[in-house]
Amino acid sequence: MKPPRLEIRDIKRSYDGKPVVDNVSLAIQPGHVTCLLGPSGCGKSTTLRIIAGVEMQDSGTIHVDGNLVCDTVFRVPPERRSVGLMFQDFALFPHLSVGENVAFGLKGPGAEKKARARDYLGRVGLEHYIDGFPHELSGGEQQRVALARALAPKPRVMLMDEPFSGLDNRLRDGIRDETLELLKEEGTSVLLVTHEPEEAMRMADEIALMRKGHIVQMGAPYNIYNAPADREAVAFFSDINTIRGNVQGALVATPFGQFFAPGFSDGTGVEIVFRPQHVSIDFDRAGKGPSPSTRTGAPARGVVERARFMGAESLVEFRMDHDQQKLRASVPNVFLPKPGTPMWLSVRRDRCFVFPAH
Ligand SMILES: Nc1ncnc2c1ncn2[C@@H]1O[C@H](COP(=O)(O)OP(=O)(O)OP(=O)(O)O)[C@@H](O)[C@H]1O
Ligand SMILES: [Mg+2]
Repeated sequence: MKPPRLEIRDIKRSYDGKPVVDNVSLAIQPGHVTCLLGPSGCGKSTTLRIIAGVEMQDSGTIHVDGNLVCDTVFRVPPERRSVGLMFQDFALFPHLSVGENVAFGLKGPGAEKKARARDYLGRVGLEHYIDGFPHELSGGEQQRVALARALAPKPRVMLMDEPFSGLDNRLRDGIRDETLELLKEEGTSVLLVTHEPEEAMRMADEIALMRKGHIVQMGAPYNIYNAPADREAVAFFSDINTIRGNVQGALVATPFGQFFAPGFSDGTGVEIVFRPQHVSIDFDRAGKGPSPSTRTGAPARGVVERARFMGAESLVEFRMDHDQQKLRASVPNVFLPKPGTPMWLSVRRDRCFVFPAH
């Protein structure tokens, strides 16, 4: 079996005795995109800088195509790692032409370098700017030149640190998709850092969810979203609702009926977590709601506190009758219930996650 394109094992790095990257391991196959996703300060950029070779790990190994690139003794310098970099502040050289910018990292005779620069500018649709200068280009065009510059040396691995965050939303979607297509075409493996879950889900074959220096969960976007490791993993992707209870006989009694809590011993406090879009709402009919079902359990009554129109859906906040707790429902935009309206909430059973309380 072929080794992964990039493999890092047990990477550790501390600053002033405080671990910032703590035993991070991951592997990426050729042509695959892995997103390092996590909150600010969790160690994403540090991990990338270590792989790029601009920073040393305290321990752990890095391999590219099965070849050792760096451990604590041996170290291939950054420029010989076949690792390309694209960072948010991708600064082009202002005094060099667009073509010279792209040719900058290339080796060989001038004519060959220029031909390669032309080829890669063509791939990002900017061949005609080859003799222009960076200040003559828009932000999006500069971003594409930076991409051509990063790709022209044909790196085996591309490290990208929030490369699209400087672009406005509409431009960003287009450039993101183009970039991905180009990288796939080249068979380059990508490690992309982002703190935006939508960006990760859009780009990644695999997401590595990072928190406080650790990778807490790794998997395809679908799996991370639908089988999150813990409450924070759910909360990272969307708003959440939480109800609490105690386990008795592998069941938790709640106003929404009983939930299975297999594997928890009697008396354990648990949290049942669900997303607002998995809550449905019904009008109150003479004090009654919809009939209980296996799909949604029992309905519970609450009073509308606030309803906000969000375009494709509306976000409705409820104060629940049973404990005055606030719960949120995100419902398709058919109506906006008035504050004070009593309504019944039902929760999709198969979209609820049970975690130990903390
Ligand atoms: N050279 C350094 N010296 C001391 N502390 C550092 C250094 N570089 C990073 N840190 C600390 O390490 C932690 C992780 O930083 P890092 O830049 O890897 O975070 P990040 O996940 O990329 O965050 P962001 O999403 O904000 O870019 C932070 O607490 C940061 O202050
Ligand atoms: Mg960072």
